[in-house]
Amino acid sequence: MNILYEKAYAKLNISLDVTERRADGYHDMAMVMQTVSLADEVEIRFNDTGVVRAATNLSFVPGDERNLAVRAALCYLRAVGQEGQGLSIRLEKRVPVGAGMGGGSSDAAAVLRTLNRHYGALDAEKLEALSAEVGSDVPFCVRGGTAFATGRGEKLETLPDMPACAFVICKPGFSISTPELFRKLDQSSARCHPDSAGIVEALRAGDLPGICRRMYNVFEDIDDRRLRTVKEIKGRLLDFGALGSVMTGTGSAVFGVFRPGTLPDEAALEALRRDCGFCETAVCVGRLN
Ligand code: C5P
Repeated sequence: MNILYEKAYAKLNISLDVTERRADGYHDMAMVMQTVSLADEVEIRFNDTGVVRAATNLSFVPGDERNLAVRAALCYLRAVGQEGQGLSIRLEKRVPVGAGMGGGSSDAAAVLRTLNRHYGALDAEKLEALSAEVGSDVPFCVRGGTAFATGRGEKLETLPDMPACAFVICKPGFSISTPELFRKLDQSSARCHPDSAGIVEALRAGDLPGICRRMYNVFEDIDDRRLRTVKEIKGRLLDFGALGSVMTGTGSAVFGVFRPGTLPDEAALEALRRDCGFCETAVCVGRLN
């Protein structure tokens, strides 16, 4: 039987800015994004059932069209004239759900890359355009690497690779709903913005401290009790020697950036794991498509 395998890498927001609320209900963004080694495992089997279904190791993740991986597969099959092809998608979820790490988007992106390798029907540009129909973060997850994302998040400019570094990623036990946080942001008045141009300049110069000093996420300053926990974790990562620390996406995961060879020791990581629930290390992954 023909089984296709792919990794669905998580993304981190090195910076996240919301520049405008749009008439279509979405927001214009400006984000420096990075693909990292923490990944879900994706397996796709072709079958003759005529339906596309997903199964995962997490009981609360749906297997029908509420799952972005299923939506991506249906969207691709329709685009290349293969409607009715049955697929069984197995997702081994390792990226925490509701973390702001693009877990669902990266599963969808892995399905799109895999099906496109199989059918060979779309060039890179067309695949990214199609992926924007599945979700705002899916085009970046299809392309991977280091990129500046604008529009809903679907307009991408590939940037130079991040200088060598390692990440410690923590996720507290709670998740924060993306639409809810956007709503709260719309209701808040004064807003600080990240120096996105400064980060891009520091990337071009290979200046890791310059990047880390400017890392900022506009969602962090919303008045929400849960974000105080995020700030506490940031403080701990900085105490452990991170050059910078920031929340990714709409949270609740938060990460610290470390110079290679300066990661906290195993006991410190274990303490973070015990207190947060989730704590893993990761490194950068380059462009995927
Ligand atoms: O595109 P996606 O389905 O991932 O977006 C989920 C939700 O996040 C949207 O329904 C919207 O409320 C919010 N969103 C937004 N502006 C963006 C991306 C997402 O307001 N650029």
